[in-house]
Amino acid sequence: MHTRFPLFSSHLELAFHYWKWVLQPGDSAIDATCGNGKDLLRLAQLMLPFAGEGQLIGIDIQSQAIAATRKLLQTHLSPSELAKITLLEQSHATLPSFPNTAVGLIVYNLGYLPRSDKSVKTLWTTTLESVTAALKLVKAGGIISITCYPGHPEGKEEQIKLLEMTQTLPAEIWNVCHHEWVNSKTAPSLLLLQKKTSSN
Ligand SMILES: C[S@@+](CC[C@H](N)C(=O)[O-])C[C@H]1O[C@@H](n2cnc3c(N)ncnc32)[C@H](O)[C@@H]1O
Repeated sequence: MHTRFPLFSSHLELAFHYWKWVLQPGDSAIDATCGNGKDLLRLAQLMLPFAGEGQLIGIDIQSQAIAATRKLLQTHLSPSELAKITLLEQSHATLPSFPNTAVGLIVYNLGYLPRSDKSVKTLWTTTLESVTAALKLVKAGGIISITCYPGHPEGKEEQIKLLEMTQTLPAEIWNVCHHEWVNSKTAPSLLLLQKKTSSN
């Protein structure tokens, strides 16, 4: 029998499995920290063939991140696929509204932009503000996928604050699950929140 090792090559691979599992045709999705656009590109390739009216939004606070994302997407996607994607240079403290479609997935990959100014990184205060907005926006059955980086001090504090907040969410409305590589405490972790019902 074929053996798969490792089961997941990285925390991002693990997150991607959940995205694939949960997204429904016609859903909209948000990448709230689009950075260099790698996650957004995977998300686009996953959902756009079935998106229908669904939209994909990428948000990043840095102009260089938005520019890098735009370049990556333009290299790999067709004009009709690009037309379904909006890139917003803004803080994710506020999230866009989707009057006509349901939001099936909101993704965060916290921390700083790889190979850039490490002083611009996600902050737990803004992250909690954003996740609070995401809780209202995501549809029943949809997920919020948050990759945390406890390997640096601010990332560890951000993970602690997120866990404190999400542990208080009512279990009749939210499934909250935290994946950790338990023999490597500095490895990234994946926090997943799935909304069970629309009463919120
Ligand atoms: C780890 S990187 C994301 C990597 C990205 N998903 C990729 O595939 O390349 C984190 C990103 O969060 C962005 N960021 C930090 N604070 C933010 C905020 N308040 N709102 C939106 N983006 C923010 C940073 O500019 C950085 O690009």
